[in-house]
Amino acid sequence: LVASSEQVEETYIMVKPDGVQRGLVGEIISRFERKGFKLSGLKLFQCPRELAEEHYKDLQSKPFFPKLIEYITSGPVVCMAWEGVGVVASARKLIGSTNPLQAEPGTIRGDLAVQTGRNVVHGSDSPENGQREIALWFKEGELCQWTPAQAPWLR
Ligand code: TYD
Repeated sequence: LVASSEQVEETYIMVKPDGVQRGLVGEIISRFERKGFKLSGLKLFQCPRELAEEHYKDLQSKPFFPKLIEYITSGPVVCMAWEGVGVVASARKLIGSTNPLQAEPGTIRGDLAVQTGRNVVHGSDSPENGQREIALWFKEGELCQWTPAQAPWLR
């Protein structure tokens, strides 16, 4: 996945329960804001087990799946939809590697986390999954279509 797409895309970003509990919500949101992406959905949400299982269904057969579901449902998460040209791959770069010890300094996980099982943030891995996950986590009417007044690069 390269960060050079010319397409306006959508990605689902989520501050996981550890990020919320550690007071990192503002820090994480601000990294996407400062990059210049456009926020189109935002809520604090206690995720039901069924939704967590659906979200991570591709990982169902992995040994860490039960612990992952326990973790994601252990407290509220912050759900976000972000839009922009190339936002899917760019957000993955801002987030950093799955294992925070391998994530580069300067990335969210590289700067703020140490454990794979507590890696503070989620980001969709493809434009298709971005759409799938936004539809999964947000109801119709919870997303805003809007045009920033003085930032044409956000449109
Ligand atoms: P994955 O989709 O591989 O990573 P990413 O979140 O970077 O897209 O895995 C989803 C989550 O599952 C990951 O963020 C943390 C958890 N996980 C583990 O707990 N142990 C593991 O060995 C892996 C690969 C993931």
